[in-house]
Amino acid sequence: MAKIKSTFFCQHCGAQFAKWQGQCTSCKSWNTIAEELIQKPDKKDWKSPDRVTNAKRIAKPLKVSEIDTTKEARYTTDDQELDRVLGGGLVPGSLTLLGGEPGIGKSTLLLQISLKLPYKTLYVSGEESQQQIKMRAERITAQTDNCFILTETKTQNIFKQIETIQPDIVIIDSIQTLHSDYIESSPGSISQIRECTTELIKFAKETATPVLLIGHITKDGTIAGPKILEHMVDTVLQFEGDRNHVYRILRALKNRFGSTAELGIYEMLGNGLREVHNPSEILISKKDEELSGTAISASIEGMRPLLIEVQALVSTAVYGTPQRSATGYNLKRLNMILAVLEKRVGFRLGAKDVFLNITGGISVDDPAIDLAVVAAILSSNEDIAIPKEYCFAAEIGLAGEVRPVSKVAQRIQEAEKLGFTTIFVSKYNKIALKNTEIQIQQVAKIEDVVEHLFG
Ligand code: TYD
Ligand code: MG
Repeated sequence: MAKIKSTFFCQHCGAQFAKWQGQCTSCKSWNTIAEELIQKPDKKDWKSPDRVTNAKRIAKPLKVSEIDTTKEARYTTDDQELDRVLGGGLVPGSLTLLGGEPGIGKSTLLLQISLKLPYKTLYVSGEESQQQIKMRAERITAQTDNCFILTETKTQNIFKQIETIQPDIVIIDSIQTLHSDYIESSPGSISQIRECTTELIKFAKETATPVLLIGHITKDGTIAGPKILEHMVDTVLQFEGDRNHVYRILRALKNRFGSTAELGIYEMLGNGLREVHNPSEILISKKDEELSGTAISASIEGMRPLLIEVQALVSTAVYGTPQRSATGYNLKRLNMILAVLEKRVGFRLGAKDVFLNITGGISVDDPAIDLAVVAAILSSNEDIAIPKEYCFAAEIGLAGEVRPVSKVAQRIQEAEKLGFTTIFVSKYNKIALKNTEIQIQQVAKIEDVVEHLFG
């Protein structure tokens, strides 16, 4: 029988201590250290024996030129948004963690994918019964007969089922509900999560099976469990969006096999998640009359051009200190832009409240949105609407200069495709585009834009 030992773990960062203490010396957080029982596994466990012998790969050192990459062919998931975020599909033997707030649609997304997949999939749920999953599957119309549903939380039993079913892809909903016999502590505790993930990694690597894990997130938005969970897996995806909004955004926070700049956009419908292939259409509110305070930015998220609507409201401050608030945009950057407008263009915004909102519930890092922010603020301040066929793509510098941005040709083409007639870009952007009908206004300073818009 194995020896039982107890150790103390920080519930925040996963650091291990020999005795209890008030503050974690590793991450400096207070009252996060808890005692957990650890049972060292017996030598004779599933991890060492037969699995290794029938493993599809046995590691041996190879030169880079000798490594055969054709074996790494990816499993495409028939979901273009997910495939793009993953960097072209699931990599054999990889572990992908999907995090997100409760109710956002993690289970729906992965169940929908398992039902569409042409491969044999095992969907293991520790959260819902088979009947509940069946009810959900009936809402999502696309169905195949390749998907097996298992309700089980003990890893040893899951592996037994895997051995009989031999699935191509394994999905676990969720990692926090799993428990391993080798560890005494309760499911969801740090040592359980760590042990179950280790077992799954071992399984994935030895059999070259991709494993998708669903992970809960805590109140402050990080994936529950030890931080090392994110280090252990190959890819960390986040499913986000306001629960009251119908749109959901899938992004990669970490990706060993692709870029982390890509976004996947979905719409939650009554019959599952719909992939949104042309996000610009949903991000721009369709309105007939022109309203002051809105401007459209030709942005790029990852490799994909995206037209995004910026809304600003400038009003006289009710209280002594004016309020500044930004949703989806960096507040510090908003303050910087307001200072530039005050100092370089002479707009008196010091006694005004300024509210800024990026519609669609997404947050934007692309600096090319700056010019649209400026245009929206000025439009609201002047109460003059910007023609709805205009869009913007440039960064603003501290001197009030309009700076060039990357991939300008792509932005212009997307704007043209969506029916915009004029795009404002920096004078310093070299544009080698032929046969464009859209009018390209190249401006050097904010004053030039003001001149064009408000005369
Ligand atoms: P769910 O996948 O259970 O979320 P998570 O696993 O992240 O906790 O999502 C549940 C929500 O999605 C719930 O509010 C109902 C809604 N929903 C739809 O709107 N349409 C559907 O087709 C399905 C299956 C769920
Ligand atoms: Mg769920």
